[in-house]
Amino acid sequence: MATLLARHAQRPGALLPLLHDVQDALGYVPADSVPLISEGLGLSRAEVHGVISYYHFFRSTPPGRQVVQVCRAEACQACGSEALMAQAERLLGCAPHATRADGAVSLEPVYCLGLCASSPAIQINDRVHARVTPERLARLVSDMAVQP
Ligand code: FES
Repeated sequence: MATLLARHAQRPGALLPLLHDVQDALGYVPADSVPLISEGLGLSRAEVHGVISYYHFFRSTPPGRQVVQVCRAEACQACGSEALMAQAERLLGCAPHATRADGAVSLEPVYCLGLCASSPAIQINDRVHARVTPERLARLVSDMAVQP
């Protein structure tokens, strides 16, 4: 945390880039990092917490060993992402916004993966997938080897 704070502390608008770096490093933004970030950037704890809770992207708890994200933004919704989310929930045995009890997988809604012209889109770990059909989702989940 000290290294990340040192990298960002003197930059204007440092909070969002710092939070991204913390999540990249740890997979989430731990609650006990909020006072450190607050002090390091000269912001109130409420400001830091407010930004973390405002953006869906930031996690406050550790993710599963694998993460499935289904885009719920407009273009993907128009192309069936609601049904994909429901299918992913059934296939993974994991509710949206949750991590399965065995820690194998998290299922998260996201709000645009930058593939709007190729909707619906999902991301599995670091890899995005466009034009995802129910059949393709079933194959992708099967390849993850995380079935409950
Ligand atoms: S709306 Fe889903 S990728 Fe943009």
